Amino acid sequence: MTPLTTLDPIVSLCKRRGFVFQSSEIYGGIGSTWDWGPLGVELKRNIKEAWWHRVVLERDDMEGLDAAIVMHPKVWEASGHVEGFHDPFTMCTACKRHFRADHVNGTACPACGGVLSEPKPASLMLETFLGPVRETALRTYLRPETAQGIFVNFDNVLTTSRRKIPFGIAQIGKAFRNEITPGNFVFRSREFEQMEIEFFVEPGTDEQWHAHWVDERMRWYGDLGLSRERLRKRLHGKDELAHYAKACFDIEYEFPIGWSELEGIANRTDFDLKRHAECSGKSLTYFDEKKKEHYVPYVIEPSAGVDRSALAFLADAYHEEEVRGEKRTVLKLHPDLAPVQVAVLPLLRNRPDVVQLAREVHADLRRRRSGGGTLRCRYDDTGSIGRLYRRQDEIGTPFCITVDVQSLTDRKATVRHRDTMVQDRVGVEQLSEYLEGKLGEVGAARDGKGA
Ligand code: GAP
Repeated sequence: MTPLTTLDPIVSLCKRRGFVFQSSEIYGGIGSTWDWGPLGVELKRNIKEAWWHRVVLERDDMEGLDAAIVMHPKVWEASGHVEGFHDPFTMCTACKRHFRADHVNGTACPACGGVLSEPKPASLMLETFLGPVRETALRTYLRPETAQGIFVNFDNVLTTSRRKIPFGIAQIGKAFRNEITPGNFVFRSREFEQMEIEFFVEPGTDEQWHAHWVDERMRWYGDLGLSRERLRKRLHGKDELAHYAKACFDIEYEFPIGWSELEGIANRTDFDLKRHAECSGKSLTYFDEKKKEHYVPYVIEPSAGVDRSALAFLADAYHEEEVRGEKRTVLKLHPDLAPVQVAVLPLLRNRPDVVQLAREVHADLRRRRSGGGTLRCRYDDTGSIGRLYRRQDEIGTPFCITVDVQSLTDRKATVRHRDTMVQDRVGVEQLSEYLEGKLGEVGAARDGKGA
């Protein structure tokens, strides 16, 4: 298949099949916020689960955290966000549209050709008020990154978990930014989820740990099926670095809109802990028992977007093929990410005995465990078998099981493989073992390690 050059087919599939809806659609929608529908929520849960598993459960040096979205306003003064979290903004004097000044060339409006105003900084912070009376309410912000919740809890986690450096804290949660030009579907929106790690290290070992995390995060995307030739790392130029960073690598993915940031991995030095110590008056140092000295740890921060990762996984998995003269749209998602892993379909939905056996197969399979989680299994008899296969292909279901009249006597069902469309006849009692093995094989093929 020729690579996609636009997000349109993915946007259309997401809407048609229930991955993503425009927020508040019945009121005409609201600028660039999105609602994840029944399949989208499963995809995002699977991405978050795969991330948590890799960076927390499979490691000996990580703890988790779930900090509040709304924090004390002093957090944002200390972090530098109130003063410095701006993008340059320009407005067309004719059509009044807004643009990021660094995203337009020259002084003419890209929409109508009118004259653009002088660029001015616009804060990306979304303000909110705590308390019933606006005049006396506490003015604060919805967090623009989850990271600060980790920094202000550094000492709490350190002392309660009795960790030694190096160790990290991982967190998944919502972040909000008043982006000037959100767009490209869920790539840049005003409300999104982040998966962030703050990894605390001894100064002087920071560059090694930075390299470790760039490699580790690149590997994770590849292992979950992103084409390795569409992934690259890019070192930020000095002029691009955020105010807190000594160095930063972006992991970029070749989206249909071109190469763009998927995840940022920054060396934040001791900037944040020092600032919070200064502004709160609390010591945020670490005592190295071997060296008998206190120091402020350096921090390596792998910061990924859940929504942006979901878009990358969808774009990479999207395939259009021709099968016997007909177009087949198929999402070749890694089985760990597929919203549904197995669909059970009765061939004849008007035959109660076939339906009953199909329901029994479904009930049995969904009790089973796969790779540490429940097998994500659906029953569907709402259309002809051709339509049901098309639907499951489009939502990325690796296996469909069809129960037919013959199944009633030979106790066998047909298993159809999404990627090859090969069909196997498998004993009903052996289905769960068979699927366990085959799901692993499909995963290995997607991560490039298998056949
Ligand atoms: N704590 C560091 C930080 O927030 P960032 O590069 O601004 O760094 C990290 O954001 C990741 O969060 C990005 O690589 C992207 O995946 C995601 N992200 C950032 N802004 C976003 C937006 N407006 N919409 C969707 N995802 C976004």
